[in-house]
Amino acid sequence: MTEPHSITKAAMESGEPVFRKIGVGPWEEEHPGEARPTADRYDSDLLDVGDTRNVLDRYRYWTVEAIRADLDRRGRHEFQVAIENWTHDFNIGSMVRTANAFAASTVHIVGPHKWNRKGALMTELYQHVEHHPSIVDLVESIRHQDAERAMQAGDHDDSEPTRIIAIDNVPGSVPIETYHFPKRCLMIFGAEGPGLSKKALSLADDVVYISQFGSVRSINAGAAAAVSMHAWVAQHAKV
Ligand SMILES: C[S@@+](CC[C@H](N)C(=O)[O-])C[C@H]1O[C@@H](n2cnc3c(N)ncnc32)[C@H](O)[C@@H]1O
Repeated sequence: MTEPHSITKAAMESGEPVFRKIGVGPWEEEHPGEARPTADRYDSDLLDVGDTRNVLDRYRYWTVEAIRADLDRRGRHEFQVAIENWTHDFNIGSMVRTANAFAASTVHIVGPHKWNRKGALMTELYQHVEHHPSIVDLVESIRHQDAERAMQAGDHDDSEPTRIIAIDNVPGSVPIETYHFPKRCLMIFGAEGPGLSKKALSLADDVVYISQFGSVRSINAGAAAAVSMHAWVAQHAKV
């Protein structure tokens, strides 16, 4: 196997896989002669041993708390996402990772508290992740948020309540390709296998499907979540 940074021309030409070095080594090795940073945001263990986490270079050597606080300070987007966790499927981790990449404000997990973290690549640490025993509890908590926001705004409140969007390819749903996403919304995804519960579909303001053109019934929930979050980003994010 080729070591990072020791890629020979022969290796490149042989078609053997070539690995890029991920992350950084200890501070002293990476910055010889430079003073070691002392600000609170730095994690002294990472400065000692290096930082190979899957984070942007801007966050190298930062503590988890400092990264999460920085994402909050920069402002997360106004969409939230939820997934029903009835089959403990691997899509949940993938959805959490995408929610982090696209700066969803919160990820909600409905059902059993224990969820399959495979695929999240520890991104759950930088997200606001909330648990709800049922879809009814989730919707109640969203309506509670709406009421709090309206109360804080007082007479100046002109905000729309959070629109609840079930994402599934079921009869009566409308295509995402022509759907206008409200800025403040909650997208709900179903579990691999059963799809969205009847209760989730009945509580949604809109039901939206992603058009498919092949022979398979559906894409996986992680892929559906990525497509849907990106559709919101394409309509609302400042790029
Ligand atoms: C693998 S699907 C299972 C249910 C799906 N309705 C079916 O008939 O196969 C799991 C979840 O992925 C999402 N999903 C998969 N394909 C989708 C599509 N084409 N449009 C919208 N959502 C989709 C939905 O949230 C769905 O509940």
